[in-house]
Formats: sequence, C-alpha cells, structure tokens
Amino acid sequence: MFKFNFLAENREETDLSMTVNTIKKSETSIPEADGQEVEMSDDHFENAKQYRENRSPTSIIRGFELVDLKHVEQLITSGKAGEFESINTAIQMNSDVVKGVYEGGLKVWECTLDLLDYLDKEHVQFDTLTVLDLGCGAGLLGIHALRKGALAVDFQDYNDEVLSLCTIPNVILNNEDVKDKVKFFAGDWGSLNCKLQSYDIILTAETIYNPENYRKLIGIFEGTIKKNGVIYVATKHVYFGVGGNLYEFEKLLQQSGRWNTSICFCSNEGVKREILKITRSADHTN
Ligand SMILES: C[S@@+](CC[C@H](N)C(=O)[O-])C[C@H]1O[C@@H](n2cnc3c(N)ncnc32)[C@H](O)[C@@H]1O
Repeated sequence: MFKFNFLAENREETDLSMTVNTIKKSETSIPEADGQEVEMSDDHFENAKQYRENRSPTSIIRGFELVDLKHVEQLITSGKAGEFESINTAIQMNSDVVKGVYEGGLKVWECTLDLLDYLDKEHVQFDTLTVLDLGCGAGLLGIHALRKGALAVDFQDYNDEVLSLCTIPNVILNNEDVKDKVKFFAGDWGSLNCKLQSYDIILTAETIYNPENYRKLIGIFEGTIKKNGVIYVATKHVYFGVGGNLYEFEKLLQQSGRWNTSICFCSNEGVKREILKITRSADHTN
C-alpha cells in the first residue's frame, strides 16, 4: 500500500490511514540519522533547471510546481539518482513510513494542505520573519513562507535523500534567488537542536504520528522558538494503528506548564484533522 504519488487535490482521493513498518536497525546497514546540514549544490540547481525546462516531469499542487515523485521513484529504483538505501527499503516494504529508516517525506500529506489553507485564510504574516518547516517532506509550508516574504526559512526532514531529491529542487523551482535565505537539515529530531537557529514561526504537518517522538519534538520547540514565536501543528486527531494522537501530544505540552495551546482549525470530513496553535506561556518566555 506504499503510495509514492503526490497527494491529489481532490480530498476523496486522499488516504486516511498510514502504513507503518518497523525494522530492527541491526537488520540493515543504514546508519543512525544524525543531524547534519545538507548544502545546496550546483547539482541541485542543474536538476531544477532540467525540471524547469520540462526535461523532467513536474506536478502542480496549490499553485506550487513540484518535482513529480513517480519520476523521483524511477530515478531511485534505477540507481540513476545515486545510492538511496533508505528510500529503496521503504519501496520494498510497501509502506508510507519505515520507522527510523524512512519517515514519509516523499509524499504530500493532507494536513499540509489544511495548514496552507489556514495560513492563507487567516493572512498569517511571514514578512521579515524566520521560519522552520519541521518535518518538511516536499517543503510546501516553507515554500509558502518564502513566497510571503520570510527573511529566512530552514527545512528539516529525517532523510537527506528527501531533501536532495525533492525539497531542494522544489524550493528552487518555486523561488528565484533564495540561496541565501534557506538552509536544509537532515536527521533525527533528537540530534538536531544544536544545529537549528531560533524562529518566529514553526510550521509542522503530520509529524505527531509516533508518540515515541513527542519529547524530541517538544525539545525542538523549546530550544528554537523565540519568546513571542508561534508554532502550528497540523495533524490528524488520531493516527489509527500507529498510536499518535493530538490529545496526548497537547496533554504533554500542557503538563509542562510552559505552553499555551489552542485548536485553531478542525475538520470532521473523513478522519478528524486539526491545527494546534502553540505559544510560550507568559511565565516561560525567557
Ligand atoms: C508523514 S511525513 C509529513 C511530511 C510533510 N510535513 C507533509 O505533511 O507532507 C513526516 C515528516 O516528519 C519527519 N520525521 C518523522 N519522524 C522524524 C524524526 N524522528 N526525526 C526527524 N524527522 C522526522 C519526516 O522526515 C517527514 O518529513
């Protein structure tokens, strides 16, 4: 049931569940995903040029031109994109997520579209602000922030191959001359805090499906959001069969007494989806 296509605009075609596989690290030669910056290279610009000149296929989602993931899949399986063991493992396991190996970045998940709609509808301002697209996948949220005048946007994904093959080409395709404004970070949330900067806004979608990661995610919020910063978490209310749910995540935030939380969007169409808005509580703004 692994679906490598970008999400269709039509909600009826969207999947409502997540297929997740777990494999033991010892069964693979894949190293731990330590935090690292992935530099934009001439190759990325050359690839984006190929896409722009229609020599490689693209898709349009919400007005963004994005690399076509069927094409990316072919590049990976044919070995033409280089050695991409994690993603190949996921393809072979027929799964949306392979825990600790591939975390679902090569797909546009539906809550990203909810958050894009919300940011537009509420005219959320990005002008001169610093932004983190946390668990970016294709990078639509960060690309939106760049288009709306963000000063700097950092993109983070578990897999460096997602950043190289998908996020970076997408950023280049949709924004001219952004090289000085963007950075890309790969690796596990637990190893990234010291690499990231501080942000006015953190945007994150479909990232709370695994309760094992809640403390790491909150650690990133704690370490990187500015005093008056705002965090938006777009999520399904419950990730069936995986264990993640918004109730537990929000409870953990509230128990610490360090955060104010409110639900700013809710849809009961299909699986319930929500957007959680988080700010530092008044006593914890230092
Ligand atoms: C389901 S995908 C969602 C992608 C994108 N936000 C979207 O909505 O289309 C989950 C994202 O969280 C990231 N992620 C999941 N677990 C992670 C972890 N433990 N450390 C770092 N990133 C992780 C994945 O790399 C991926 O970008």
